[in-house]
Amino acid sequence: MFTYLPLRGALLLSLLQTAIASPAYPRNTQNSTCTKAKVAVLGAGMAGIAAAQSLHNASISDFVVIDVNSYIGGRVAHTTFGINSSTKQPYTVELGANWVQGLVSDGGPENPIWTLAKKWGLENTYSNYSSIQTYDQDGSADFARLLDNFEDAYSTVEQDAGTILTQNLQDRTMRTGLSIADWKPKKDMQMQAAEWWEFDWEYAYSPDQSSQTWAIVNYNTTFYQFSGDNNYVFDQRGFNYFIESEAYTFLQSNDTRLHLNTNITSIAYSNSGVTITNADGSCIQADYAICTFSLGVLQNDVVDFQPALPAWKQTGIEGMQMGTYTKIFFQFPPGSDGTFFWEHGPDPATQFFLYADPVERGWYPVFQSLSAPGFIEGSGIFFCNSRSYRAEQQDDDATKAEVMAVLKKMFGADIPDPIDFMYPRWSTEPWAYGSYSNWPPGLSIETHQNLRANLGRLWFAGEATSAEYYGFLQGRVLMGLKGAYTEGQAVGTTIAECIGGNKTDCKSEPSYQTVRGCTTSERQLTPENGWFVSSMDTFGF
Ligand SMILES: Cc1cc2nc3c(=O)[nH]c(=O)nc-3n(C[C@H](O)[C@H](O)[C@H](O)COP(=O)(O)OP(=O)(O)OC[C@H]3O[C@@H](n4cnc5c(N)ncnc54)[C@H](O)[C@@H]3O)c2cc1C
Ligand SMILES: *[C@@H]1O[C@H](CO)[C@@H](O)[C@H](O)[C@H]1NC(C)=O
Ligand SMILES: *[C@@H]1O[C@H](CO)[C@@H](O)[C@H](O)[C@H]1NC(C)=O
Ligand SMILES: *[C@@H]1O[C@H](CO)[C@@H](O)[C@H](O)[C@H]1NC(C)=O
Ligand SMILES: *[C@@H]1O[C@H](CO)[C@@H](O)[C@H](O)[C@H]1NC(C)=O
Ligand SMILES: *[C@@H]1O[C@H](CO)[C@@H](O)[C@H](O)[C@H]1NC(C)=O
Ligand SMILES: *[C@@H]1O[C@H](CO)[C@@H](O)[C@H](O)[C@H]1NC(C)=O
Ligand SMILES: *[C@@H]1O[C@H](CO)[C@@H](O)[C@H](O)[C@H]1NC(C)=O
Ligand SMILES: *[C@@H]1O[C@H](CO)[C@@H](O)[C@H](O)[C@H]1NC(C)=O
Repeated sequence: MFTYLPLRGALLLSLLQTAIASPAYPRNTQNSTCTKAKVAVLGAGMAGIAAAQSLHNASISDFVVIDVNSYIGGRVAHTTFGINSSTKQPYTVELGANWVQGLVSDGGPENPIWTLAKKWGLENTYSNYSSIQTYDQDGSADFARLLDNFEDAYSTVEQDAGTILTQNLQDRTMRTGLSIADWKPKKDMQMQAAEWWEFDWEYAYSPDQSSQTWAIVNYNTTFYQFSGDNNYVFDQRGFNYFIESEAYTFLQSNDTRLHLNTNITSIAYSNSGVTITNADGSCIQADYAICTFSLGVLQNDVVDFQPALPAWKQTGIEGMQMGTYTKIFFQFPPGSDGTFFWEHGPDPATQFFLYADPVERGWYPVFQSLSAPGFIEGSGIFFCNSRSYRAEQQDDDATKAEVMAVLKKMFGADIPDPIDFMYPRWSTEPWAYGSYSNWPPGLSIETHQNLRANLGRLWFAGEATSAEYYGFLQGRVLMGLKGAYTEGQAVGTTIAECIGGNKTDCKSEPSYQTVRGCTTSERQLTPENGWFVSSMDTFGF
C-alpha cells in the first residue's frame, strides 16, 4: 500500500535500500485533509502518555496522541467482574498490569510508578510471596522448602550473571545458569512448580527460553535498585486511573489532540516527517512520531510500514520475544459458615496457592485469593495465573473445566461451582499480541538497540525497548532525567530538544547493520545502546 507515498518516492525508496531518502510527504504534496501536528504519539499507554507529558513539559503543545482503544492506559486495563452480593454491583479487576513492582529502599531511587501510585492514592496491598500453600494431585503437599532451595541457587545465578556481564563472557540460558548452581528440577514436578512460581510467573517464559544475564539485569534494576516488594493494586477506579489522571494534568477534557478509538493501519516515515493513516481513512501528518506499540503488534505485521522496515530493524523486532501471561478469574460463593474453600488450610489468610501437576509443567500452577485480608476482602474472587497459550486458544468452558479439575484435586471434590468466570486473551488481542516482552538467550544489546533505534523521524518507545526495565511499567531512571519513568519520557524529551529549534541536526540513535558474536562487551553498555543505569548498583541488598 503506497496510498500516501507519491510514486516517485516509492521508486526512489526501492532503489535506495539503506538510507531513508524520500520524505514521507514532500512539502509540496502535503495532504490538506490530514490533521497536522509537530509530534504524533502512537499509543496512549504508559509510554505514550509519558512521551506526551514530556513534550508538554518542554512547552510543545502541538502534538496528537492516537490509540485504537477507547481509554487511556493500554496494557493497564481493567474490567468489571463478579458481584458484591449486598450492593449487587460488580467488582473491578485488572486484566493486565496489577503490581507496582519494586517500591523504594534506603539510599536508593524510588520506582517512579510507586511515586505516581502514591500521588493518585491508588489502593494497594503488599503482596506477601511467603504467604503460600503448596499442593499436588493428592491435595495439600508441603514443598515450600523448594522455594528456598531455588532462591539459594538464584543467588549464585545472580553473581554468575554479573561475571558474565562484566567480563564479557558468552551469555547462556537461565536453565544453564540454574543447573550450574545445582538447581535441577528434571522430572521432579514439585521442583518444576517451584521453579514456575519463582521464574516463569515473572518472565512469562521458562528458564530454557530466557537469557541468564539479562533476566538478572532486569531483576536487579527493579528489585535491587527500588525494592523487593510487589504491591498489588486493586483500586476500584482501575489501575490505569493514575495514567489517566496524569494525562489530564496536561490534556483538557475532550482535548482534540487525543484521538481514541482510532486504528492506525499504516505509518509512512522518512527523514522529514511521518504520515499516519487510520482504518477510518483519516490521516495525520507530523514532523515526528513516537511509536509505542507493543512488541507483539510490531511482530505481527499489524501496521504497514512505508518503506518496509530495513533488515536491521527487523532483527531487533524479531530478536526480542513477546510473552503471554494469563489471569483466569473465578468468583466462588462462600460456604454456609461464610468462608471460602481455600480458607480452610492452616492459615485462612493465605494469599497464594501453588499446584504441582504430576504430568505437565505449568498446568494452572498459581492461584491467588483476592478475598484475602487487605485485598477485596470477602469478594470470593480467586484467580489463576498461567502463561497459557492453551487457555487462550480454547473456549471458556473448556478452560473452566480444566481449572476446576485442578481445584478439586487441590481442595477436594465438593468445592462449589463458580458464580462467575472470565479471562482475557492477550496473545490474540490485535492491539497487544501478548502481555510483555522477555530477553531470549544470546540476544546482544546491539540487536536490542535495533529495536529501540529511530527510523528517520519515526522513533520507538514502549516497554520492550527498555534494555533494563522491559516487561515492567517503569522505565529508565536517573541519567539526569529527574523523575523519568518510561522510555516514552526519554524519547519525548529527546524529540522536544530536536524541535526546540536550537538543534538543527537531531542525532539519530545508533543502529547496527550487522551484529557480530553474542557477547556484550563493556564498551557496548552505554546510554546510546539503552544502558542507563548499572545493574551492579544495588541498594538494600
Ligand atoms: C497480563 C499482564 C500483566 C502485567 N503485569 C504487570 C505488573 O504487575 N507490573 C508491571 O509493572 N507491569 C506489568 N505488565 C506490563 C505492563 O502492563 C506494560 O509493560 C506496560 O503497560 C506497557 O506500556 P506501553 O505504553 O509500553 O504499551 P501499551 O500499554 O501496550 O500501549 C501501547 C498502546 O498502543 C495502542 N495500539 C497498538 N496498536 C495500535 C494501532 N494499530 N492503532 C492505534 N493504537 C494502537 C494500544 O491500544 C495501546 O494502548 C503486565 C502486562 C500484562 C499484559
Ligand atoms: C512533567 O512535569 C511535571 C511537573 O513538574 C512532573 O510532575 C512530571 O513528572 C513531568 N513529566 C514528564 C514526563 O517529564
Ligand atoms: C508473610 O507471610 C508469612 C507466612 O504466613 C508470615 O510469616 C509473614 O509475617 C508475612 N509477612 C508480612 C509482611 O505480612
Ligand atoms: C545483580 O546484583 C547482585 C547483587 O548485588 C550482583 O552480585 C550481581 O553481579 C548483579 N548481576 C548483574 C547482572 O548485574
Ligand atoms: C465532552 O464531550 C462529551 C460528549 O461529547 C460531552 O457530553 C461533555 O459535556 C464534554 N465535556 C466538556 C467539558 O466539554
Ligand atoms: C488525502 O487524504 C485523504 C484521506 O485520507 C485521501 O482520500 C486523499 O486521496 C488524499 N489526497 C492526496 C492528494 O493524497
Ligand atoms: C460490598 O458492599 C458493601 C456495601 O457497600 C460493603 O460494605 C462491602 O465491603 C462490599 N464487599 C466487598 C467484598 O467489597
Ligand atoms: C485495526 O484494523 C485492522 C485492519 O482492518 C484489523 O485487522 C484490526 O483488527 C484492527 N485493530 C483493532 C484493535 O481493532
Ligand atoms: C534555544 O536558544 C534560545 C536562544 O539562545 C533560548 O532562549 C532557548 O531557551 C533555547 N531553546 C531550547 C529548547 O533550548
